[in-house]
Amino acid sequence: MPSTTFDFAPLLRPNLPLAAVKYAGFPPFNFVGGHSDAATTPVDGLIAATASVLKREGATLATYGLNSGPLGYIGLRQFLSKKLYRQAGITCTTDEILITSGSNQGLDLINQVLVAPGDTILMEQASYGGAISRFTRHGAKLVGVALDKEGLRPDALEAAISDLKEKGIRPKYVYTIPTVQNPTGSIMGPQRRADILAIATNHGIPIVEDECYSDLLWTPERPKAMRAMTGLGNVIFVGSFSKSIAPALRVGYVVANWSILACMLGCKTDAGTGALEQMVLAEFCEKHFDTHVRTLNNVLKRKLDVLVESLGEHFGTAAEFEVPKGGIFLWVKLPDTVDTQKLAQAALRAGIAFNPGPEWTIDKQWGRSRLRICFANPTQEALRKGVAGLAEVCHKEMGVPARIANVARG
Ligand SMILES: Cc1ncc(COP(=O)(O)O)c(C=O)c1O
Repeated sequence: MPSTTFDFAPLLRPNLPLAAVKYAGFPPFNFVGGHSDAATTPVDGLIAATASVLKREGATLATYGLNSGPLGYIGLRQFLSKKLYRQAGITCTTDEILITSGSNQGLDLINQVLVAPGDTILMEQASYGGAISRFTRHGAKLVGVALDKEGLRPDALEAAISDLKEKGIRPKYVYTIPTVQNPTGSIMGPQRRADILAIATNHGIPIVEDECYSDLLWTPERPKAMRAMTGLGNVIFVGSFSKSIAPALRVGYVVANWSILACMLGCKTDAGTGALEQMVLAEFCEKHFDTHVRTLNNVLKRKLDVLVESLGEHFGTAAEFEVPKGGIFLWVKLPDTVDTQKLAQAALRAGIAFNPGPEWTIDKQWGRSRLRICFANPTQEALRKGVAGLAEVCHKEMGVPARIANVARG
């Protein structure tokens, strides 16, 4: 037997994405990613739901697709059809819902069906890093559209479409996160949604609305989804249980007309999204979704308050932000002198991780002094200590913040 291990390097296909680094545990102050609050995970409810659904329907695990067909477990699609009508105003049958392995798989399937290499996607100039990287990997060209306090700006969208038209380019779709935008936390009001929808409709461009944060709101009402505002089927709705229940379950969904879902099913090669997760979610959510989300939102809001207080205490006016009315992120602007990618490396050496702005923006220069903090998973104490530590590192490396409460830092 040869003593050296087999070398795959010469066999790897060209243009592979970057290889993963080995997992070495989370840093002590982990403000990256979209993790949820651990203490609020409804463990007992999920255990009870697992037992009851398995006793009743466990034998259907013997078939691919649980006797429900390739769109996903019928009980979960029935729950979603009612929930989406009640909370987002969407009228859809269970045949217009596809359960996916996280909403990320939904985004991948949409791209597989619609986007060829070289095609253009319009999106918010700051957007979900996972969308930016997967759209780019898919060969799409991304055009960032300016934002304001309500998210995507209609005038900037119209201008971007005209600009592309002059170059003979018809974008494949507009990707937007209307309710609790990632990373800015903005919420698009009803009139803004109508304006964006009208522009896209006039130009014959479909919209993909990614609403994975729309349950995490501390305002009384969630504006209607854009999919609910059009009878044309030109809006594809993407949702997830990652933020409302638990990201590790890997259950998301796409709501679209059957004609487009049928094409997506043709590309879905996993022989079905995890069955047990779908059954347990349906059983749990039918009875407990609203109460669970209410509890979770109270916890998240308190954590955001702590984060805002800590930033005020340690960064003073050097940290600028809009306080969001929901979600799990705070999008922070530091003075122009701060390069958040360099800061992220120095912070990591001190056990503090955050997402530097350029990973979350189309124009990397615009994102240079911005950063995203996820406040859902760290404890309140970790938020306080982590922000204090970040201010120390930032002061040492970048001279920011220079003063706190009018006292120069030594
Ligand atoms: C805007 C947005 N869309 C989609 C996802 C993917 O979520 P999942 O695949 O866990 O449903 C995330 C995760 O953070 C997100 O922020």
